[in-house]
Amino acid sequence: MGTLDGKRVLLVIGGGIAAYKSLDLIRRLRERGASVRCVLTKGAQEFVTPLAAASLSGQRAHTDLFDRADEADIGHIRLARDADAVVVAPATANTLARMAGGHAPDLASTVLLATTLPILIAPAMNVRMWLHPATQRNLALLKGDGIAVVGPNVGRMAEAETGPGRMAEPDEIADAVEALLAGRPDGGTLLAGRHLLVTSGPTHEPIDPVRYLANRSSGKQGHAIAAAAAAAGARVTLVSGPVTLPDPLGVTVVRIETAREMLAAVEAALPADIAVFAAAVADWRPANLGDEKIKKGPDGPPPLGLVENPDILATIARRREGRPPLVVGFAAETTEVIAHARAKIARKGCDLIVANDVSTATGVMGGDRNSVHLIGRDGSLETWPVLPKDEVARRLVVRLAALTTTP
Ligand code: CTP
Repeated sequence: MGTLDGKRVLLVIGGGIAAYKSLDLIRRLRERGASVRCVLTKGAQEFVTPLAAASLSGQRAHTDLFDRADEADIGHIRLARDADAVVVAPATANTLARMAGGHAPDLASTVLLATTLPILIAPAMNVRMWLHPATQRNLALLKGDGIAVVGPNVGRMAEAETGPGRMAEPDEIADAVEALLAGRPDGGTLLAGRHLLVTSGPTHEPIDPVRYLANRSSGKQGHAIAAAAAAAGARVTLVSGPVTLPDPLGVTVVRIETAREMLAAVEAALPADIAVFAAAVADWRPANLGDEKIKKGPDGPPPLGLVENPDILATIARRREGRPPLVVGFAAETTEVIAHARAKIARKGCDLIVANDVSTATGVMGGDRNSVHLIGRDGSLETWPVLPKDEVARRLVVRLAALTTTP
């Protein structure tokens, strides 16, 4: 049995030297059981031929927006609809710009504008084009639209330059297609009728009116969970510390700054069917908060006394009345991830812990990818591959739905 059995992938091949790897991608996807239909841009045809794509996919390859045979046969709207996922590989700077701007001058871009299917892009371009603010801006817009991204990898490229811009390898792209389809909440009804409460981001703990203690949390994982739960039909309340992320669509967002404000907002948002505590709450806050800015003086630096903040997760998980039936904590660790997470589940009284390694080398804190372990109260352990945070969120939502469905 292939891991993509019965799945239909529409592969849009863009115009870059990496297009030759997309021919291999067709083969890898088919080996996993998927059927593949290809659309080639004009640029793509400078590198690979429609005949090669057709031979490897076993289906006609599509190239033109106004192709009489094609319009009569299947047409761009059906191309955009009759699949389970759309993969753009290589996604060139030009393709990203067209997608971000909603331009549709050719068949590939028209299909991408017309589709409502999940889209995965595998960018590939010259290092400087990739790092250009315009490309990064377009990428941020596309991610904001819920488009999944795999790569680019860092490495040697065609022009003998080194840096980020190299297309992800065919097997990595195929893995990302699997992840995209596996975690997809079905038709937005998976959590219908449920209220899901999520905490996200850091907290800021004031030292004086202008200074604060904070941490490096970006809120990406918590916000992604809120977005995925809303997409799965839940009513979602997101209690968020200070972050620079846009509010997820269809989610009620309550903004707070401190741990104590977060606890109050969480309590006010109850009852909930599921509570996910993804925030990086400051464990301590400065004591003796003055109302005035602390000034430099002859006595040297001020002593910074700290007092402990309330543990929001433990407070909610240990409530006698009004405890959400499913309480999920996160464990951000830098050493002995699993052992510490196991101890945390018992100490905090939650049902499930999502543990991740946040040591600097992993790039998880503030980054777009996450490598998590799921630890149950019964000691069960499941390790997921490194995935985009959006994908971790989608898979988690599927799991939460399963855990709260009464047989
Ligand atoms: N948490 C919370 N309130 C706090 C501290 C943590 O709700 N004051 C929650 C986090 O949102 C997360 C879980 O508790 O879901 C674990 O957070 P983490 O920072 O890893 O644990 P700590 O309690 O700080 O434990 P330690 O300092 O031992 O790592």
